[in-house]
Amino acid sequence: MSKQSYLSGLGMYVPPRVVTNHDLTEYMETSHEWIVERTGIEQRHWVDGESNADLAEHACRQAVEDAGLSLDDIDMLIYATLSPDHDFPGTGVFAQRQLGLRPLPVLDIRQQCTGFVYGVATADAYIRSGMAKHILVVGSEVQSNALDISTEGRHIAALFGDGAGAAVVSISEDSSRHIISSHLYADGSDAEILWMDKPGCKQRPRITHEDLDAGRHFPVMEGRQVYKHAVKRMPESVVEALETNGFSAADLDLLIPHQANLRINEMVGKQLGLKPEQCFNNIQRYGNTTAATIPISLREARDQGRMNPGDLVCLTAFGAGLTWGSVLLRY
Ligand code: ACO
Repeated sequence: MSKQSYLSGLGMYVPPRVVTNHDLTEYMETSHEWIVERTGIEQRHWVDGESNADLAEHACRQAVEDAGLSLDDIDMLIYATLSPDHDFPGTGVFAQRQLGLRPLPVLDIRQQCTGFVYGVATADAYIRSGMAKHILVVGSEVQSNALDISTEGRHIAALFGDGAGAAVVSISEDSSRHIISSHLYADGSDAEILWMDKPGCKQRPRITHEDLDAGRHFPVMEGRQVYKHAVKRMPESVVEALETNGFSAADLDLLIPHQANLRINEMVGKQLGLKPEQCFNNIQRYGNTTAATIPISLREARDQGRMNPGDLVCLTAFGAGLTWGSVLLRY
């Protein structure tokens, strides 16, 4: 039998500081009602001095323990984030150092909200090729300190939270638990509808006082455009994953979509004809943690008994780039 991989361990971590919608009213003109009605978000966690690597370290340790492995068993680290601790080197090596991992391949990837899906697909390909046996894939984000929390930035600042989630992708010796297929996409035609322009190497220095005054270091998002992209691309990639493998939506035990907006996910579920119990959502408590939403959801879904060994599970994400994709697996 050719080599296959599966999710052998899951972990998550969010910083202890909880920021409710009500707390946001101290910084911007907004209301709990507006945020809940448009996005489903009730609260999020924001760091209080912790780094991106700090969040990842907690999630990774939990995932490795959950897999019944030790950190010495890990032979590669794939690190997905859009909010690195430094411009370079990538945050992966800092997490590696904190975890005490021996010298091994560390791969930082920048696929934003689709980062974890890209990471799992890459880990699966490495394991199938025989180049690795246990790969730690982590999505970790510190969004809060990059947001414009004034009224001007409220349409973005209300959405994002900080957190990390991790999975160990291991060689599968059990044919009932394996990653079935991955479907990855990107299209840069509309990259600027969701991006952060500065700092950037098209100028010297990479950020100026004028840039800061103009707020060019804050993320920019054309919300409606992004919404349209999400409700088209996520269902499309789920249908592709199912049809490629001869399944229908009714066969799916659980869909774990990226958590950007509860309304987007409700629309995705409706388009696919899924029952509410087939869709997992936890954005209410965490907001959008970008590359961390799917691994955080995986751990919670498993702990809540909504995802059991052998279940048919589809992960789907979309994000800046624009990027999107899906992974179909037997958990
Ligand atoms: N509180 C109160 N009012 C607000 C807030 C807020 N937090 N944010 C915006 N508003 C106001 C606007 O100012 C606007 O007021 P106006 O009509 O007087 O101008 C009004 O509400 C409507 O604003 P819109 O931006 O048009 O609201 P919309 O219905 O589009 O909802 C939202 C905004 C929730 C952001 C929605 O567009 C959305 O979810 N888009 C997708 C976002 C997304 O998925 N992002 C993914 C990021 S993924 C990644 O890779 C980083």
